[in-house]
This record gives sequence, C-alpha cells and structure tokens, in this order.
Amino acid sequence: MKPVKVGVLGLGTVGGGTINVLRRNATEISRRAGRDILVTHASARDLDKKRICNTEGIILTTDPLDIINNPEIDIIVELIGGESLAKDLVLIAIANGKHVVTANKALIALHGNEIFAQAKQKGVMVAFEAAVAGGIPIIKALREGLSANCIESLAGIINGTGNFILTEMRDKGRDFADVLSEAQALGYAEADPTFDVEGIDAAHKLTILASIAFGIPLQFEKIFTEGITNISREDVSYAEELGYIIKHLGIARKTANGIELRVHPTLIPHRRLIANVDGVKNAVLVHGDAVGDTLYYGAGAGSEPTASAVVADIIDVVRALTTDPENHVPHLAFQANAIADIPILNADAIETAYYLRLNVQDKTGVLAEVTRILAEHSISIEAFIQKGPQQNDSSLPIIMLTQITLEKQMNAAIKSIEALDTVVGTVNRIRVENLG
Ligand code: NDP
Ligand code: HSE
Repeated sequence: MKPVKVGVLGLGTVGGGTINVLRRNATEISRRAGRDILVTHASARDLDKKRICNTEGIILTTDPLDIINNPEIDIIVELIGGESLAKDLVLIAIANGKHVVTANKALIALHGNEIFAQAKQKGVMVAFEAAVAGGIPIIKALREGLSANCIESLAGIINGTGNFILTEMRDKGRDFADVLSEAQALGYAEADPTFDVEGIDAAHKLTILASIAFGIPLQFEKIFTEGITNISREDVSYAEELGYIIKHLGIARKTANGIELRVHPTLIPHRRLIANVDGVKNAVLVHGDAVGDTLYYGAGAGSEPTASAVVADIIDVVRALTTDPENHVPHLAFQANAIADIPILNADAIETAYYLRLNVQDKTGVLAEVTRILAEHSISIEAFIQKGPQQNDSSLPIIMLTQITLEKQMNAAIKSIEALDTVVGTVNRIRVENLG
C-alpha cells in the first residue's frame, strides 16, 4: 500500500521530536498503523537554523500554505503554537479535506468548538492528545478507556514548567527566575512563559479535559485561574509542617449546582500519590462513578514525550483513514449533538478548605478577633500554628487550616480580617484539597 504522506508545520521542540520518533520507530509504527508513514514536507520560519532532527529527504519551506495546499499530503501536523496563525492554517487544512494532528492547547481551548464543527462537516479528524499533559495519553483514557463512567471529578498537575519550578525551589532552594530559564532552555516552557507561570496554559488544558470528561462545550473564559508567582518559601515550609505539599492543580468537579473549573496552587496531603509528582512530570487523577479513582502519570513536556502523543495521534488517524467518518470517535468524546450546556459555577460558588497565613501584632486578644470573624462567616478552623516573631519583624505569623467553606464566605472573612488594626499586611490564602 502507498505510504501516508504527512506535512509537519513547525520544526522546534515538538516538531523535531516528532520527526525523530517517526524515523527511529518507522518499522514498529508501520506494523501498528498498517501502512508506512512518511513526512514528505515540513515548514519553519528560518530554514538555516540548526535542527534537533534530520530533515534529509523532507522538502522544507517557510510557507506553511505550500504544505496545506499540496494535494499529495494526507495529514497536517500543526506544531507552530499560538492561536491566530495556527487557527487559520488548521481551518484551511480542514477545508482542503486534510486530517489534522496538533499539540496546540491554546488553539483547541479557544477555537476547538469551531474547528470540530468544521472538521465534522468535512468528515476529517482533528487529533490533539499532545495538547494535554505531554506524553500521558489522558485524552484517550478519558474519551475511550473511561467511556462507561459518569466522571465526577478530575484534578491534575498539568503544567510541566510550573511543577519543575515548584520542585526545584522546594528541593534545592533555587530562585524562581533561574529555574524558569532552565525550563525554557529544556524546551518545556511556552513561547510566552507567563502562560506557564500564570496558569493560562493549565487553564487551556483544563478546558479540554473538562469538555471531554463532562460532555460540555470548550469554555476557557469560565475557568478561575491563579498562577504560581505568589507562592512563597514560608508557605511551602508551613504547609510541610502541617503535612501538606503545595502543587499547582487544575480541578474540574461536578456538583449539584453545576461544574467547578479552577486552576490554582493547592495544598494536598503529602501521603497522596499525586503530591509526589515532581519536576516536569504531570499526573491527572480522574474519579469515575464505576471505576473509582484512577491516576495517570508521565512527562508533561519535552521533545520526545510530547512527540510520543503526536505520533500516536498520527497512527490513530492512519488506522481510521478508510472508516466511515460517522463512526470516528467524537472529537470531544460525546456525540456532537449530545454536548450539554451544564452551568459552570462562578468563583464565589467554589467550595473548598483553605490555608491562611497572616501576620498580627503581638497583643492580647488579636487571635480572638480573627477567630470571631471566621465564626461569624461559619468558617471552622481545622488546624492552627502560631510562630514567634520572625527576624527583623515584631509581628507574629499565624497559620490556619479551615474546614470546607464557600469561597464567597472566605472572601468576606478575609476582607474583615485585613481591616483589623492588629493585622499587618494582607492575608495569604491557598486552597486545600484532600483528594481522598
Ligand atoms: P517551538 O517554539 O520549539 O517550535 C515552533 C516551530 O514553529 C518552530 O520551528 C518555528 O520556526 C515555527 N514557527 C513559529 N512561528 C511561525 C510562523 N509565524 N510561521 C511559520 N512557522 C513558525 O515550539 P514547541 O515545539 O515547543 O511547541 C509547539 C506546540 O506544541 C505549541 O502549541 C506548544 O504549546 C505545544 N506543546 C509543546 C510542548 C513542549 O514540551 N514544548 C509540550 C506539549 C505541547 P523556527 O524554528 O524557524 O523559529
Ligand atoms: N509549557 C507546557 C508545560 C508544555 O510546561 O506543561 C506542555 O504542554
């Protein structure tokens, strides 16, 4: 049978890795796909740049349209990134009747609803396993392996750069900026690394996971998002003292009133498996009504781990080339006409426990004032630590863990506590999840 011809847009970290894996494992891949898979064309901005892959035998161009408009090519692999150019290119590829594989989570989270509708109309596949959690096949697990279940919740470490930074800061006391530079050099970070550290990349990924888990439209704009830039060394060590580890999590949870979608630093008990996921590794914990808890772990970023997911998608597309498009696995796991408009809860309606750190003046009655305010907002304290004055500072740090409460109540309580004359500065709050 004739080989399937693939055009790769982008020859950077993931594009280079994809070509390397396709070349190195060509025989195994062909045995699995049932046909040879050949990268015939590739594009990049600068054709003189040194590449991590061997581009011998591949026709190179600076214009992705040369590839997308080439009638010989069956599958377009979009590995440029960003959302506007990538969206235009993917929509033209679909209009040209080509199947698309992408690792671009921003593209899918922001424009997936439109892209999938166009793809369905044209009877082509758009595969995006690499868009979430790098090399972990979490999309396939949710969409296919867990399709018997009502998914009740999922929680994941879904940004490798952020987890790498938190781990290096905690274990080696390294500076935030220094670790971020290393993550960039290793090819983990986004072109704009604020996407990693401000939680935007994790929110893109959570948008995709939630859609596939609950059969809802992609709704990036409804996600509550906080990054990792405000996590301090003190919080890391107080959390440890209380038996917790701070991780940056994406959480999606079905409640009686709607779905919680949130990305933020989170205290999790150190004995949980997911608390021990370090460095660039990602992990996603999924709870289904039939299966219970399941956990998926692996490299969340990097050249070949991500290429592993891209190439698996290419193989899936090749296997399905001769099948009736009506029988393809739906892009978002649920049939397009069965996507449901379940309400997404706003941030005030989130229910969680909290870690609070505040500095108070060393005076009698201060603590009573703080606990009175919490009680007035029906917030119960679970654990409490009071420290002596810190170096060069006469105020005393107080650290509390609360029981589960409504975010709205906590916001009101924090406002009243910060207004007390005896409280110095602001209250630092980190959400706590037991994930039990
Ligand atoms: P890179 O920056 O390493 O590579 C991007 C490639 O696209 C480069 O070859 C670049 O050309 C080319 N390119 C950039 N802009 C243009 C343009 N305007 N026109 C034509 N070509 C262009 O990115 P990554 O490989 O890291 O990421 C690619 C995608 O994969 C992104 O969507 C990213 O979010 C996603 N992803 C990345 C992961 C990772 O670990 N890096 C993991 C999972 C997903 P040139 O080389 O000449 O500059
Ligand atoms: N910048 C992303 C991360 C790449 O660090 O997780 C993988 O999606």
